[in-house]
Amino acid sequence: MPSLRGAPLVGAALDLRRDYLGTLLRAARDVGDVARIYAGPPGWRVAFYSISAPELVLEILGQPDRYTKGNQFYAEVRKALGNGMLTSEGDDWHRQRRFLAPVFTHKRISTTYAAIMVDEAQQLVRRWSRVAATGGAVDVHGEMIDLTSRIIGRVLFGADMSAAVPEIVKFRFVSDLILQRGFSPRPTPMCVPTRANRRLSSGLAGLRAVVDGIIADRRRKTDTVPTQDLLGLLLTSRDVDNGRDRLSDTEIADQVLIFLLAGHDTTASTLACLLVELARAPEWQQTLRDELDHVLAGRVVTAGDLAALPWTGRAVREAMRLYPAAHSIGRSNTHEETLNGYRIPAGSAIVVSPWTIHRSPKIWVDPQTFDPQRFDLPGGQVPGGHKYAWFPFGAGPHACIGMQLAMLETPIVLATILQTYRLSTSLTSIPLQPAISLHPADPLPVQIQLS
Ligand code: HEM
Repeated sequence: MPSLRGAPLVGAALDLRRDYLGTLLRAARDVGDVARIYAGPPGWRVAFYSISAPELVLEILGQPDRYTKGNQFYAEVRKALGNGMLTSEGDDWHRQRRFLAPVFTHKRISTTYAAIMVDEAQQLVRRWSRVAATGGAVDVHGEMIDLTSRIIGRVLFGADMSAAVPEIVKFRFVSDLILQRGFSPRPTPMCVPTRANRRLSSGLAGLRAVVDGIIADRRRKTDTVPTQDLLGLLLTSRDVDNGRDRLSDTEIADQVLIFLLAGHDTTASTLACLLVELARAPEWQQTLRDELDHVLAGRVVTAGDLAALPWTGRAVREAMRLYPAAHSIGRSNTHEETLNGYRIPAGSAIVVSPWTIHRSPKIWVDPQTFDPQRFDLPGGQVPGGHKYAWFPFGAGPHACIGMQLAMLETPIVLATILQTYRLSTSLTSIPLQPAISLHPADPLPVQIQLS
């Protein structure tokens, strides 16, 4: 089995720690589409298989019984946040997906939730006006985290969000700590009171208390006034196959925690990277602005306009190609498998990598360059020449349930910003950190001027 060359004793341990994303790209280039990467000294060695071929994406992600989420990363997320949709499998997952499908309908997303996105984006544009007046800069990453937290807060909790969001933001460090445990070769058991474990336990307890409090409060109210926010819908939703079955409060809290985790950092990073790429490319910005002027003529964007804004959509897709928020999708195989002719022993850690596939020079011309033109294709052709050459939302039955939300939120926010501001930056690249989602590692200053 071909492996990535590393240091004699510790393998790729140092490379992975210093530059995980670069190491994956090196493995794809030097070793191939199925690359074994090992780290740590003999006896403590951990190995994983990095998958960089579109042809293997569905073979793995499309067979959840053979390739499960039974890996350390999901185990840590499950331990911390419970058995919500992102971590559940088998019957539990089927049950949850049945309850959630009616909550994520196209109609609801394109009306109620789109209106929240537009409103929040407009408030952001107004908040920026003072900075723009003095020709100043904003940190687009911080700003996008703030904006997407407010949006997911309102989508989840409606009117109760103003109380919830500041509380929730306080616990942002929780996801970083979960991640550290998920990727550490031997995480210290939670019963050992290290400083990090104590911080994680108290952070989790605090976060859960906020969510439990909102649910208990709402349970009392929903009997009289049903609400259209996600929490209200979860509280009243019934199993489509068995109308008497409903979700317990713990199950609802687990879902809410997962949506908070999965639902804003991903979109925030995507938007931040997209804004920087456009700030670096005035000609693309102009193409998008011309399109917006032509179609909207200064009026507020709605979900119904997006189909008539192809360049806006292509810019969004291109940002999701270059900066796939879910950079690594982890699985573990229940049986021995053969991938591309290589034997993968049962119980191996497998990483299906949107990061390497989206940046593969075998698939994309000049893959490191931001170029929305790649997505301007004649009907019937798919970008990158394969259905899974571009798959930021995963594939198979566990693909992202929030995809429609994200594919609405990102262009709505972008359109609203570009209608008002011209962006520029001195940044020449975006430093990245592969946290649970792919994050910009540093603040991203972008100058804004009225357009
Ligand atoms: C740019 C934004 C987003 C990206 C790139 C993204 C990416 C992904 C990916 C790749 C998966 C598959 C994970 C796997 O197979 O292990 C996933 C699953 C999931 N995502 Fe997203 N996501 C985004 C936004 C959202 C939003 C806005 C929400 C919810 C409000 C959300 C909720 C979920 C949930 C619940 C799952 C688990 C689905 C299942 O297992 O059935 N995501 N996401």
